[in-house]
Amino acid sequence: MTEKLQQLLSELEQFGETNDNKTTDRSRRMLNITHDTGAFLSVLIRATNAQSVLEIGTSNGYSTLWLAEAVQAIGGSVTTVELSDYKYDLAAKNFERTDLSAVIHPIHGDAGLLLADAADHSFDLIFLDSERPEYPGWWPNLKRVIRPGGLLIVDNAISHAEQMESFMTLVASDPQFTTSLVPVGKGEFLATKSNS
Ligand SMILES: C[S@@+](CC[C@H](N)C(=O)[O-])C[C@H]1O[C@@H](n2cnc3c(N)ncnc32)[C@H](O)[C@@H]1O
Repeated sequence: MTEKLQQLLSELEQFGETNDNKTTDRSRRMLNITHDTGAFLSVLIRATNAQSVLEIGTSNGYSTLWLAEAVQAIGGSVTTVELSDYKYDLAAKNFERTDLSAVIHPIHGDAGLLLADAADHSFDLIFLDSERPEYPGWWPNLKRVIRPGGLLIVDNAISHAEQMESFMTLVASDPQFTTSLVPVGKGEFLATKSNS
């Protein structure tokens, strides 16, 4: 990782912490992943050679930058979707400050619609970090668009265990998926789709 990107990530970590401590308005909070989670995602992308990555929930682009740096290293790209005008614009400005724009495809819109329109098996890896109550409804399309052998990673699996419970049970009970709960950051729920 370049020093310039490390500096931007540090700046965004400080911004996120200060910003989120001073407002309880969820629409204005950045709700970023932790630094450890970013490093974990970077390893997972490289280890699985995930060329086609989808992120659901861009916020101001902090997690996207981790994903983008990793996909750039292996020749892939990341599509990231954000509903909020405010956060989409913040992310766009942050992406402009990097050399990663060529591998980032930002989409301003609703993840549910994006998933419904996406082709079968179009993503090697999906990072899900959005509105948790939506996840069970999104599951049929999530499982359809992940390629066989692909990986779903969901943030906040420990920090918001109660809200995540029904979704994690749904995924874990699907015979096509093998799951694991990893105590990194706010808790990462991993589910890999079988090859057959
Ligand atoms: C937890 S934040 C994402 C944080 C980001 N992944 C990071 O670590 O930097 C969740 C984001 O999902 C967005 N969101 C909520 N509902 C959405 C939807 N239906 N489609 C796309 N984005 C959505 C919110 O506006 C919010 O920015």
